[in-house]
Amino acid sequence: MSVLSLARPEIVAMQPYSSARKEAPARGVLLNANESPWPLFDDNNDHLSLNRYPDPQPHELVEALAGLYSVACDQVLVTRGSDEGIDLLTRVFCRAGIDAILQSPPTFGMYRIAAQTQGAAVVSVPRQSANGFAIDTAGMLEAIRQDQRIRLVFLTSPNNPTGDCVDEGFLAELLALSENRAIVVVDEAYAEFCDRASSIRLMAGNPQLVVLRTLSKAWASAGLRCGAVLAQPEVIGLLQRIIAPYPLASPVAALALRALQADMRARQQQRLTELHENKQILLRLLKGRSFVLETWPGEANFVLLKVRDADGLLAHCARLGVILRAYAHDSVLRDCIRISVGSRQDLAALEQALDRWEATST
Ligand SMILES: Cc1ncc(COP(=O)(O)O)c(C=O)c1O
Repeated sequence: MSVLSLARPEIVAMQPYSSARKEAPARGVLLNANESPWPLFDDNNDHLSLNRYPDPQPHELVEALAGLYSVACDQVLVTRGSDEGIDLLTRVFCRAGIDAILQSPPTFGMYRIAAQTQGAAVVSVPRQSANGFAIDTAGMLEAIRQDQRIRLVFLTSPNNPTGDCVDEGFLAELLALSENRAIVVVDEAYAEFCDRASSIRLMAGNPQLVVLRTLSKAWASAGLRCGAVLAQPEVIGLLQRIIAPYPLASPVAALALRALQADMRARQQQRLTELHENKQILLRLLKGRSFVLETWPGEANFVLLKVRDADGLLAHCARLGVILRAYAHDSVLRDCIRISVGSRQDLAALEQALDRWEATST
């Protein structure tokens, strides 16, 4: 059975839009896209040809990402961050009012938003704080067995905000159960920070597996809005049917390509090492604080804490210009805060703020 059978039939059946740049590359006398014939800037600085529509999937960038993640070019879709990948997957695989996604909260909030926007149900198998926020693997497998509506399973490795990684044995079981039933998405936004093999290598034997990667975190490029969906060509083809005709602005594509060049890769490795050291510093400066009730160090570039008076601590830090993440509207995480690993300077500012909080709150 092909993964095409899991997609919304109307998406498979529709005639997709064919953009001018898709039909013909930007070479020759270009009179096919209603563009301006003149460059945007007069000073010969318009090397990006901004008056022209960009390549819908910039070839060199696709090649660079395929090389980075060790997949074929036709297994890559470049998107405006993983957020767009999540949205496209939900729109392709979930019929409004009929299908559902499966998630394991607390987790990244955009899975739920994408599902609700699409009119798909959200089946949640929650993690329990009493259980260290570990994923309820038996509950997830049972949900897939029982609930025929589930078309998309979202796993996050490492998970945001709990920082834990998906267990390999569990993933294998889940993939076996979901065969011909559901698409399994492993969101690896934080994969570079942890020391584990990526799920990408499992794509070969599991056509229903999709992996999301992004340049937003370890590649220091959140402002670029550039991510990649990695999947079988059939799945990529389905997503291409509904993605915007020109998702990536020319400057974004050029900068993303630059960010992936050899010198930048070396720099990224140095920064990952430094971030790892800074995380140890962060954990040390949190240790022994009277208001910290529990710590989940996790395997990503952040730490989750359960604290006494999360709202007060957050407001105190904000007054001193140190901004932390709170979860006031989440019943499970209400007492928790998430702290991203920053630079040494950021950590020094945080330490000062925490010292002052400790002094006033005891
Ligand atoms: C788990 C997870 N996935 C995806 C994203 C979104 O990534 P992007 O910036 O590529 O849209 C985030 C952002 O925080 C995240 O935590």
